[in-house]
Amino acid sequence: MKNISLLKAGGRTLRAALLLNCAMLIAAPQVMAGDPLKGGKIYNQQCKQCHGSSGKSTFPGVADFSRGEGLMIADHELLQKIRNGGGMMPAFRGILKDDDISNVITYLRKLRR
Ligand code: HEC
Repeated sequence: MKNISLLKAGGRTLRAALLLNCAMLIAAPQVMAGDPLKGGKIYNQQCKQCHGSSGKSTFPGVADFSRGEGLMIADHELLQKIRNGGGMMPAFRGILKDDDISNVITYLRKLRR
């Protein structure tokens, strides 16, 4: 008898967990989608001097964002790149919050012509 009531309680938690999962799935795209206006401000302050206002870099050999170069990867991978930097690219961990970086990523994706 005890087992059955446990099972019932378990079913309820399972159902609650499933509902939560669905809610998260629906909410997720909104959480991930950054604000391109905020991103653009940050881009102009922190990135433009090297990556150019249109995304065409002033450095030779650097990805041209206006042609979508360097952007054919998932948002979370781009986030890591921007956080960690590498080579001549400065690391933005500790300078920009993840939310800010997400906004910049949304902006980068809009630079593509
Ligand atoms: C001091 C100059 C400089 C600044 C400022 C700078 N970058 Fe970079 N960035 C570079 C260089 C140089 C590279 C190429 C690094 C390499 O491949 O070795 C690069 C690479 C990148 C890449 C990877 C492109 C690829 O080919 O995979 C991304 C994404 C990027 N930068 C985004 C940003 C963002 C967003 C900002 C502002 C928050 C920013 N960068 C600020 C110089 C800069």
